[in-house]
Amino acid sequence: MKQMQPVRGTSDLIPEEKARQNHVISTALNVAERYGFRDMATPIFEFTEVFSRPLGASSDVVSKETYTFEDRGGTSLTLRPEGTAAAMRAVISNGLTQALPHRWFYAGPMFRYERPQKGRMRQFHQFGCELIGPHSALADAEIIGCGAQILEELGVLDKCVLHLNSLGDTQSRQNFREALITYFSRFSDDLSEDSRRRLETNPLRILDSKDDGDRALLDDAPRLPDYLSDEARRHFDGVTAALDAASIGWTHDPLLVRGLDYYAHTAFEFVTDALGAQGTVLGGGRYDGLSETLGGPVLPAVGFAAGVERLALLIEQLHLPGSDIAVLAADETAEAASFGIAQSLRHAGLSAVQLMSGAMGKKMKQAHKMGCRFVVILGADELARDVAIVKDMQTGTQSDIARALLSDAITQMMKGTISE
Ligand code: HAM
Repeated sequence: MKQMQPVRGTSDLIPEEKARQNHVISTALNVAERYGFRDMATPIFEFTEVFSRPLGASSDVVSKETYTFEDRGGTSLTLRPEGTAAAMRAVISNGLTQALPHRWFYAGPMFRYERPQKGRMRQFHQFGCELIGPHSALADAEIIGCGAQILEELGVLDKCVLHLNSLGDTQSRQNFREALITYFSRFSDDLSEDSRRRLETNPLRILDSKDDGDRALLDDAPRLPDYLSDEARRHFDGVTAALDAASIGWTHDPLLVRGLDYYAHTAFEFVTDALGAQGTVLGGGRYDGLSETLGGPVLPAVGFAAGVERLALLIEQLHLPGSDIAVLAADETAEAASFGIAQSLRHAGLSAVQLMSGAMGKKMKQAHKMGCRFVVILGADELARDVAIVKDMQTGTQSDIARALLSDAITQMMKGTISE
């Protein structure tokens, strides 16, 4: 039955996958906090214009990928396809445009109606950092440095290459845009259908084309770096000098334009070849004009977002922490009392699972499979003597311990294990 499947492009996060995602997000937040970022969240849906204006009506995200619907009051709403426009909306609507800078971290689900494949979902998760206020090139370097350190602490930085480009200021981009239109108009019959449409709406995006015919034309096309104003070039030099000083490796990618319209100056992506076609794990850039497209004041800003699913695919096998202790009743008469033991262990701060079904042998096998460090066994005989058997699954030794002393004794034994 179709309805019994998750919707195409979405997936359940069963515990192993959820643990990997939690690990990715908590590592990211831990690093970001060292850069002064603070966790925040915006709603999962916004008024449609919050995304349509800043991301650009001609961008793929807005023109083909948003989940947009009218609510019961007839208001057009959009499930967030990304977090940056929403974060800027939050700066403006919370009256925070004066108290700068803001260093915000967020993580959560995003929605894009894309063709699903490995690493590309319709509901996916991002974490991101937005540094709102400074126009210094040091802010760009700091954002990139923070992204790099997150990848490093996840153990995946050596699988990624940092691609960096400058999109210049508005005037630089305008001049480049005109040069591109002049150049590609000569070849419009040879362009792919998508790029022919982009020639009208957003010629910079042709640089991003994956079509072989389009790519062949790029060799002789105008190059963005040749159109940068002096100011834009100075900003880019400031970013690269800071990255070099911190030994953050980067490669200049003059074709990197990013898929959202709000960028100016710095654009960057950390790309891996270990994930097939969907190799960008973390991307961002400067978006100084975004606030104004939302009706806010001039507000320079720079940030990035990363795909949690893609990073979870990249990280090595993650050890899922199990429970410390399995508690089992050897016979029916001890069942209620074994529940009492499990409860007292949990109240003492230990993690304990009850094994509730099957014969003794089966329960022991289960405890082994779950990786429990100790098994607590209670039968009629132990009940009568007010003790429980504690078996150390690492050493195989077992001893009777008075029930009232169980939590303390196991806590001590665990401490002993840690100091070993
Ligand atoms: P983005 O490049 O559109 O940028 O997305 C950032 C990351 O989200 C991508 O590099 C990718 O890892 C992940 N991602 C995007 N779409 C999908 C998908 N359909 N399935 C799985 N993962 C996906 C932004 O969203 C900007 N808001 C980044 C930013 C923040 N710029 C400035 N501040």
